[in-house]
Amino acid sequence: MMLGTAGMTAIQCAFTTKQTREVLLLGEKVNDVIVTGASGGVGSIAVMILSKMGCNVTAATTKPNEEYLKSLGAKTIIKSGDLDKEARPLDKGLYDGAVDTVGGNILANILSHVKPNGIVAACGNASSIKLNTTVMPFIIRGVKLWGIDSVSVSIKRREFLWDEVSKLVDFDLLEKSIKEISLEQLLVEYSKMLEGKTSGRYIVNVNK
Ligand SMILES: NC(=O)c1ccc[n+]([C@@H]2O[C@H](COP(=O)([O-])OP(=O)(O)OC[C@H]3O[C@@H](n4cnc5c(N)ncnc54)[C@H](OP(=O)(O)O)[C@@H]3O)[C@@H](O)[C@H]2O)c1
Repeated sequence: MMLGTAGMTAIQCAFTTKQTREVLLLGEKVNDVIVTGASGGVGSIAVMILSKMGCNVTAATTKPNEEYLKSLGAKTIIKSGDLDKEARPLDKGLYDGAVDTVGGNILANILSHVKPNGIVAACGNASSIKLNTTVMPFIIRGVKLWGIDSVSVSIKRREFLWDEVSKLVDFDLLEKSIKEISLEQLLVEYSKMLEGKTSGRYIVNVNK
């Protein structure tokens, strides 16, 4: 319940970014990673899981929530706005991999900043559905853009991922960022969510 679709998506993204390169493609170790939309439902759990996997996680966020993101394991916090500009075809290689939940300019900049053979797990469009990039990250650095769809994952893969959850998710910590609200409270919270004024996750208890 606490993990939900966001949790399933986050664990898929984290495994794609780290284990797909290290285990499936027998590539180099994935150390430095970036997660965008870091305080959102998917982003926050991806930060936690990648930190548990031993990565140095950079969290990109629009909010002043450094303490919260550090409590999840993020090592470095950057402003999403710094990446929300037209991307250069290739930029300084900073990350071995990435989890992107926002799309748009931010995803384009992430692709330009990924080091050779890094995997970018893209699952969301919180900022934009558009992606204006070039072939350069793909043909010069072998960067892989890996789409994540939590709906059509095979049962076998779901079972594998859920088996990993207990090792990678700190439920006590996660619980602190979850608020349980009633349907009436949802009417109030929902408008705040649309204005980007909330953080953490909400469970709507219809019996409350
Ligand atoms: N592919 C799939 O199977 C799948 C599954 C679940 C979700 N999704 C998608 O993944 C995305 C994230 O889902 P979620 O549940 O984590 O949503 P969420 O809780 O609403 O979080 C989205 C986060 O994105 C960031 N954000 C929002 N608008 C932004 C903007 N204009 N510029 C930069 N950052 C922005 C914010 O992060 P900060 O607060 O840190 O700034 C926000 O907290 C959504 O697009 C959702 O539809 C896809």
